Amino acid sequence: MALSKPHGGTLINLWEPEYKFNGSEKELEIDVIALSDLELIGNGAYSPLTGFLTRKDYESVVENMRLADGTVWSIPITLPVTEESIKDIETKDTVKLTFKGEVYGVLQVEDIYVPDKITEATSVYRTDDMEHPGVKKMFERGNVYLGGSIKLIKKVEKTEFTSFYLDPQETRAVFQEKGWKTVVGFQTRNPVHRAHEYIQKSALEIVDGLFLNPLVGETKSDDIPADVRMESYQVLLKNYYPEDRVFLAVFPAAMRYAGPREAIFHAMVRKNYGCTHFIVGRDHAGVGNYYGTYDAQKIFDNFTTEELGINLLFFEHSFYCKKCENMASTKTCPHGSEHHEILSGTKVRQLLRAGEIPPSTFSRKEVVEVLIKGLKNQQVHS
Ligand code: ADX
Repeated sequence: MALSKPHGGTLINLWEPEYKFNGSEKELEIDVIALSDLELIGNGAYSPLTGFLTRKDYESVVENMRLADGTVWSIPITLPVTEESIKDIETKDTVKLTFKGEVYGVLQVEDIYVPDKITEATSVYRTDDMEHPGVKKMFERGNVYLGGSIKLIKKVEKTEFTSFYLDPQETRAVFQEKGWKTVVGFQTRNPVHRAHEYIQKSALEIVDGLFLNPLVGETKSDDIPADVRMESYQVLLKNYYPEDRVFLAVFPAAMRYAGPREAIFHAMVRKNYGCTHFIVGRDHAGVGNYYGTYDAQKIFDNFTTEELGINLLFFEHSFYCKKCENMASTKTCPHGSEHHEILSGTKVRQLLRAGEIPPSTFSRKEVVEVLIKGLKNQQVHS
């Protein structure tokens, strides 16, 4: 077996720092989500995308979870703008994409269109409830979408954890160098608790390496901040994982909280980073009660193994069983729920914010120490 082929067959590379402007370009200020998407399109993490979706691809993704050419793609990667900001912009224009005035990319405008956001919400998020953080964000962003191919000219300057930002071609090189033929990707937006550790290590029993790939782009305000999480991952790996079997790098995308749809997206991106396997546990990328516990697993039934091109590893809800004195799931434990300690990122966050220390059956003590310190600093600074 070799590392996974990129989604769509080719790893896209639109990195062009030496791009020559001809002076006729217009300018457009983009938001932080578009900025992270620009970089991830440009570095190939979103292969086969070569730009922000045009209407044809957008409608196809919203309706069918496929690009117009049939390739599996579940989350619309769009460039929302206000009408006001594109007063002078027309199709066929070349536009400099700026953030805080600095140019990060160029867009060849192929399409300017007004999306049906209600349909986008109900199809992608399965709800148009504005309490849903992904839906809310989608509605807050501009009402007009620009579509077209991009060039990535500048990458966001990383001030922290710089060594953990790797492009897909770099992660692929790392996996190869390590001699890994099979690699399981793990998405998380939480500190790693014992249930995460259990499913990661269960997966690691059958593959060569684990790619711990926490999402560090925009998340909702009550999620644990990325810098605190990054520190917690490092102490966990140092103390409880074999060094030569795990590789930690960040996924700098925004969280959409789109549950099942986002699970497909997460899997396709990890395939681009080189993973051959991807973990989907309970309520992957979910929020509140919008999705059923295993909806993010069931949704993969809509596709063939060939078109997905990555092996999905589905895990049951895992917990600590006081009778087994072990981590387990309903698949492996015969005892009643009264013996189970149910773990979740939400619960760990609640305990910490209430000043309580999660037990070691929830989270490793080294992780808890980092989280307590991190949250204290956050309170001091907020
Ligand atoms: S996510 O929004 O990034 O998916 P989270 O960090 O909580 O959230 O989960 C990371 C991965 O672990 C997901 O695949 C999720 O389904 C899985 N997971 C989280 N908690 C459990 C649990 N108790 N049992 C089984 N799988 C879990």
